[in-house]
Amino acid sequence: MRVEDPKLTAELASLGIDLRTGTSLAELTSLGIGGTTDLLRITKHESIPALIELLERHQVPHKFLGGGSNLLVGDGELPWVILQLAKPDPEIVLVGNLAHVDAAADLGHTVTFCAKHDLGGMEGLIGVPGTVGGALRMNAGAYGMQIGRYVREVKLFRAAERNLEILKGDQISFEYRHTSFGPDDMMLAVTLELPSKPFKEILQGIRICNEKRRSSQPLGQKSAGCIFKTPPGASAGRMIDELGLKGLNVGDAKVSDRHANFFVNAGQASASDMLTLIADVRGRVEKAFGVKLENEVVVWNA
Ligand code: EPU
Repeated sequence: MRVEDPKLTAELASLGIDLRTGTSLAELTSLGIGGTTDLLRITKHESIPALIELLERHQVPHKFLGGGSNLLVGDGELPWVILQLAKPDPEIVLVGNLAHVDAAADLGHTVTFCAKHDLGGMEGLIGVPGTVGGALRMNAGAYGMQIGRYVREVKLFRAAERNLEILKGDQISFEYRHTSFGPDDMMLAVTLELPSKPFKEILQGIRICNEKRRSSQPLGQKSAGCIFKTPPGASAGRMIDELGLKGLNVGDAKVSDRHANFFVNAGQASASDMLTLIADVRGRVEKAFGVKLENEVVVWNA
C-alpha cells in the first residue's frame, strides 16, 4: 500500500511522521520474510490519535509493528501501511527501583542497562529478541519468568477509545503469552519495578540463561522464536521432535535441526512456504497426539 495523496503526505509531515516508502518487511522481521509497503515512523507519542484519525479519514489501513521478532508477514505488495515508533533518546530513565522504558527500546539492551544499575529480575529475558513493547504485548517470558510480573504502569494508545491512556499494573491481566490489551492497542511506554541485586549476581544469571539458550535454540538463524504455544501439560518442541520432523521443509522454510518448535528461514523462504509448513506440522501433531497446536507467532497475512 502506498501513500500517494500529496495532501496526506503533507499532513503526515506536519505530525512529525517519517515516511519511508516501499519498505521491505523482510528487512524488519527476524524471519526475513514479508512483502513491501510504506513505513510510517512515529517520533511523538502525542501525535498518534491525530495520525490514526488521519489514516482513517483517507481510508489507509494500518498495522503497528514492534521489533518484528515474533511475526510472519505475507508476501508481495501488502494491503496496509506499517506504523512503528522511532526510538527516543534516552530510552530508559531509572528512578530508584523504577525503570521508565519506551516501548521502542530493545529488550536485551533494557535488561543489561538495568543490570548495570543493579536492577535484576529480568535475566531470563536476555536473548529474547524484539522491543519492550512487543514483549509487553505478549507477556514474553523464559526460564521461569515473565515480563508482566514487573509491570507497574503502561502508557498506551487505546484503539477503542482513540486516546492515550495510562494503565496501572493491576488493571492489566498477564497470562502465559497473553495479555488483556485490545488487539489494536499500541504499547508506548512502561514502568517496571525491578528488585535490587548486585550487578555481578545478575550477570551470573544472564550467563546461565545465555548458555541454556545457546545450547537448545538455533540462535544464528532467521526465526521468529517458537512457532507454537506450549499446550497444557505437553511440549510442542518435544512432540514435533518425537515425530522425527526436524529438518522437514517446504522450500526454504524448515523445522530447525536444533529445536523442533523453531522454524527457520534457511534462505529465501516465502510466507506461503512457512504457512504451509506450519499447517503440515500442526496436522501431523494433531493426528499423532490429539493436540491442536496454537500459533505463538503472529501472522499478518496479505
Ligand atoms: N525438546 C525436545 N526436542 C526439541 C525441543 C525441545 O525434546 O527439539 C524438549 C526439551 O528437551 C525439553 C522440552 O522439550 O524437555 C521443553 O523444551 P525447552 O526447554 O527448549 O523449552 P520450550 O518449552 O520448547 C519455552 C518457550 C521458549 C523459552 C523456553 C525457555 C514457548 C512456546 N516457548 O520453550 O520461548 O525460550 O521455554 O524458557 O513458551 C518463544 O516464546 O518464542 C520461546 C522460544
